[in-house]
Amino acid sequence: FGYVNYLVEKDRRHILDTLVNGLARLEYRGYDSAGIAVDGDKENEVFTFKEVGKVAKLKALIEEEKPNMDCTFVSHAGIAHTRWATHGQPSRVNCHPHRSDPTHRFTVVHNGIITNYKELKTLLESKGEVFESETDTECIAKLAKYIYDNNSDIDMTTLAKSMISELEGAFGLLLKSVHYPHEVIAARKGSPLVVGVKTSRKMKVDFVDVEYSDSGPLPAEQAAHNVALKNLKIGTNNSLAPPDKSLLHRSQSRAFLSDDGMPVPSEFFLSSDPSAIIEHTKKVLYLEDDDIAHIHEGQLNIHRAGKRDGSSAVRTIQTLELELQEIMKGKFDHFMQKEIFEQPESVVNTMRGRLDIANKKVTLGGLRQYISTIRRCRRIIFIACGTSYHSCMAVRGAFEELTEIPIAVELASDFLDRRAPVFRDDTCVFVSQSGETADSLMALRYCLERGALTVGIVNVVGSSISLLTHCGVHINAGPEIGVASTKAYTSQYVALIMFALSLSEDRASKQKRREDIMEGLGRLSDQFRHILTQDQAIKEMCYKFFHNQKSLLLLGRGHQFATALEGALKIKEISYLHCEAVMSGELKHGVLALVDENLPIIMILTRDEIFKKSLNAYQQVVARGGRPIVICNENDEAFTHETCEKIEIPQTVDVLQGLLNVIPLQLIAYWLAIAENLNVDFPRNLAKSVTVE
Ligand code: G6P
Repeated sequence: FGYVNYLVEKDRRHILDTLVNGLARLEYRGYDSAGIAVDGDKENEVFTFKEVGKVAKLKALIEEEKPNMDCTFVSHAGIAHTRWATHGQPSRVNCHPHRSDPTHRFTVVHNGIITNYKELKTLLESKGEVFESETDTECIAKLAKYIYDNNSDIDMTTLAKSMISELEGAFGLLLKSVHYPHEVIAARKGSPLVVGVKTSRKMKVDFVDVEYSDSGPLPAEQAAHNVALKNLKIGTNNSLAPPDKSLLHRSQSRAFLSDDGMPVPSEFFLSSDPSAIIEHTKKVLYLEDDDIAHIHEGQLNIHRAGKRDGSSAVRTIQTLELELQEIMKGKFDHFMQKEIFEQPESVVNTMRGRLDIANKKVTLGGLRQYISTIRRCRRIIFIACGTSYHSCMAVRGAFEELTEIPIAVELASDFLDRRAPVFRDDTCVFVSQSGETADSLMALRYCLERGALTVGIVNVVGSSISLLTHCGVHINAGPEIGVASTKAYTSQYVALIMFALSLSEDRASKQKRREDIMEGLGRLSDQFRHILTQDQAIKEMCYKFFHNQKSLLLLGRGHQFATALEGALKIKEISYLHCEAVMSGELKHGVLALVDENLPIIMILTRDEIFKKSLNAYQQVVARGGRPIVICNENDEAFTHETCEKIEIPQTVDVLQGLLNVIPLQLIAYWLAIAENLNVDFPRNLAKSVTVE
């Protein structure tokens, strides 16, 4: 997170508070240590604060150190970071910002990974640099200093270009320096970065030109074309509406000027995620790979690090549609709890304007141009990680049935490890809440290189996956802050089902089935609400049956195996209770040996075509003395005479039943973690957005 202001009379307390609050909003992305660097009292001074642990500890440290809170300059810059360790233990010395030397000539915060840092480190050490941390990031600050020492006339943007040309890997970084007081560089390649812009008067400039070091600004016609493209890709609803003519206007000036041509006070917020910006401004600009944003004296200039590639030439300032309250906890104790309870609305948002039950139509604007190509593809490969992978597993059967196209579901990391064959007539679907997961992103690049058609099913608008895929669907679930994904799962599931419905629109034999599924989608929200009324009963059940247990089995088959996988992941990640998802058909091939009267077991036994087979597993467990808790349909006569503990769920179309069945499992995970007094929103060792391989 970064903050730069110009002609805004604010003291250092305001600047520090803005940075600390920004970090607190981003904390869910990683939270083992946090740090801040701000301009000091003199031009050649930087104050830094670093602390291990959560942002609250950093805040306490700043209070303790009592820095001078008066600011004497017209402009002020600060950069900040909250870390999730990859290279090096969480410690003060490994915490960002990293510095080039003890006088902080260059200071940097960085997300991502510098893959050639060892080579850079060796080179810089041979030039006399002494490294203090175990991080890859430190080499960036030292590299900047090395470049400056060899050419002290260089301006900050040229220095940044030169520095970035040496970096391999992925980064979203902010750089400041005592040699360029009050200036900040923000650069991205592979890791997200958003710039928020706030001026105290009406903004005169809505669009910022991209400068090219080699070719200069593009001719207006090309620029207009690129705006159009950009508009298609980042439109908030992913619609394919023609570009707004007003967007074709290009401004000559990049400064924020008043009517009389005088500079106006301005503030810039730099963040890896718009949720930290929304409370300050709704005007944002998403940087693209190889962009270098330079902020100085109220001006924002975007430069390109490398040669021009396929990326658009004009960056538009967009208006965020996010509301602050969407990212606040409201009446809930935890973000995860809030997000679980938001699902009746979030799935409606996913379907809004897309599902027309009366006319039996699904319209996914972001796919419209590509649907007929996808129908002709030779296979569809779903590629994802974690919960997003489970949503792909959950819809595989529906896709196979409705499209009759061969479907593969791949974990992104394994897909890359195997260097799996991909062909031009494949359609590769990337499902990701954040749109930034490194493994998924690398797999996307791999598929693009092989000429496959790529589709993004993404929540975060403007994220790398949504920008790089040929087409896609935003799931519109709203910001998801809890590390354990809940509402994104159900919205991904719904978006994917709608995708399968639109692919099968031309199949006469599938129409009845499609109508049933559409009607099922229409009932979903009310059914969610109904299931959520069981919250307290589920809480009590958790305290009674699972407290102090060492392990838990979660059994399902068919469509419900994905539900078991997702439920088990939720339980593991936030309650730290070992939980294993077992395909019920496989029970007798090994896992049955674990079953006795003590092992807690949850079985998903809702009605579908294979219900009888699922019951076999139930009988096998009961026969070994097991006492499973059963997730079944309401008033199911198969269980009226059974003494087992039940969670009763409304019945829906088989391919949608997993959406309902996962809700009690999300609640079980939540209440198990609460019973253990664990921090639900910040599970140990995990991060919301994993931008490293
Ligand atoms: C991390 C998160 C998971 C998430 C996975 C994939 O591991 O902790 O909740 O499912 O990444 O993230 P994505 O943003 O690609 O869906």
